[in-house]
Amino acid sequence: MTNPFYLQVIPDDRPLCDRTVELHELSSFAQSGANVVLYSPRRYGKTSLVRRVQRDLAAAGAVTVFVDFFGVSSVDEVAARFANAVFAFTHSREPLWKKALTTIRSFRPVLKPDPESGFSLSVESAGAQGLGIALLEETLDSFGRFIEQVDSPVHVALDEFQEIVTLDRALEVEAAFRTRIQNHQASYFFVGSRRRILLGIFTDSQRPFFQTAINYPLPRLPEDELTDFVRAQFSGAGRRCSRAAAAELVAAAAAHPYYTEKLAFLVYELSRTITAEAIADAYERLLATERPVFEATVLNLPPGQRRLLQALAREPTPHLLASSYVAAHNLGSVGGVQHASRKLEELDLIERTREDDWTVVDPAFAEWLNRQRERKVE
Ligand SMILES: Nc1ncnc2c1ncn2[C@@H]1O[C@H](COP(=O)(O)OP(=O)(O)O)[C@@H](O)[C@H]1O
Ligand SMILES: [Mg+2]
Repeated sequence: MTNPFYLQVIPDDRPLCDRTVELHELSSFAQSGANVVLYSPRRYGKTSLVRRVQRDLAAAGAVTVFVDFFGVSSVDEVAARFANAVFAFTHSREPLWKKALTTIRSFRPVLKPDPESGFSLSVESAGAQGLGIALLEETLDSFGRFIEQVDSPVHVALDEFQEIVTLDRALEVEAAFRTRIQNHQASYFFVGSRRRILLGIFTDSQRPFFQTAINYPLPRLPEDELTDFVRAQFSGAGRRCSRAAAAELVAAAAAHPYYTEKLAFLVYELSRTITAEAIADAYERLLATERPVFEATVLNLPPGQRRLLQALAREPTPHLLASSYVAAHNLGSVGGVQHASRKLEELDLIERTREDDWTVVDPAFAEWLNRQRERKVE
């Protein structure tokens, strides 16, 4: 038996826990040609969900383009990734492939044999390098001509879209996208984890994308469904798991979609039975495997932000700027806390919950931060 839990984007043919309402709503938005901003903290299941929406749309005959902007470092690369995504969808679909080749002329697709997937697809620029905005504009214009030539509905997902804000001349990049997209007969999904930055693109009246898309926050998974899901996955793989044990596992992972899967994955690897002890052991393993990322995150923060993060891990508060809180956690000046909180929110490390508390977004990170502190006073 192979481990039934997933730590990557969930493959198309594997079960998703819940998300039936979201699948339905997002598919309807796509079908009616609406643009949507889909956002949540990282590892809540946005990419898995969008993939699934696109799978269903494609099965119904739509053209679906999926572009991941994670880590993008230049405008040329934004254009290249976009073109690559169009070629990736069309290459195995003959009439579309020809249309893509004849309309999208700013890049040439390059197919290379690949031992794993058969072949890999990249693009090379058909003209000069370093054209930046002009290259992006040309690519998006040509995609517009491609859309006009196909009879099927077109859906485009731009994953980690907020990354474009980190580029030089970001406002011009936004404007280039905005002016073209508004003329495209297509539904666009703008997907991202850094919520403050992503939403800023759409809610700032001074910016090109102001109020052009439906805001769609993706919540965590409901605990009950997640508990049933964990149980079903264990039992499908031949492991008995009581409802109480599954509920305990979900609670230990704070019902976080990724941490729940990861904890269950580790329990499956470490123990034949799903007991409280196995869950506790697996949780230690989980923190150990995440440690390098947590350490790097903390190391990249200036001291003021680090202190605030530690304070919020220890004591979430609705009154971040109260002098008693600032003093109790040795946070320096109120102005400093204000600045640090803005920065941490931009990094999506802290958030204001519905109950109005400021907290650390990632529950395992919060636990790790608290243990760091406890070790220090030992
Ligand atoms: N609906 C779901 N059912 C089960 N597990 C999920 C679900 N959504 C997300 N996950 C878990 O979260 C992980 C991250 O999912 P992903 O789609 O990459 O999230 P995001 O794009 O929001 O960062 C997946 O690998 C999986 O372990
Ligand atoms: Mg993602």
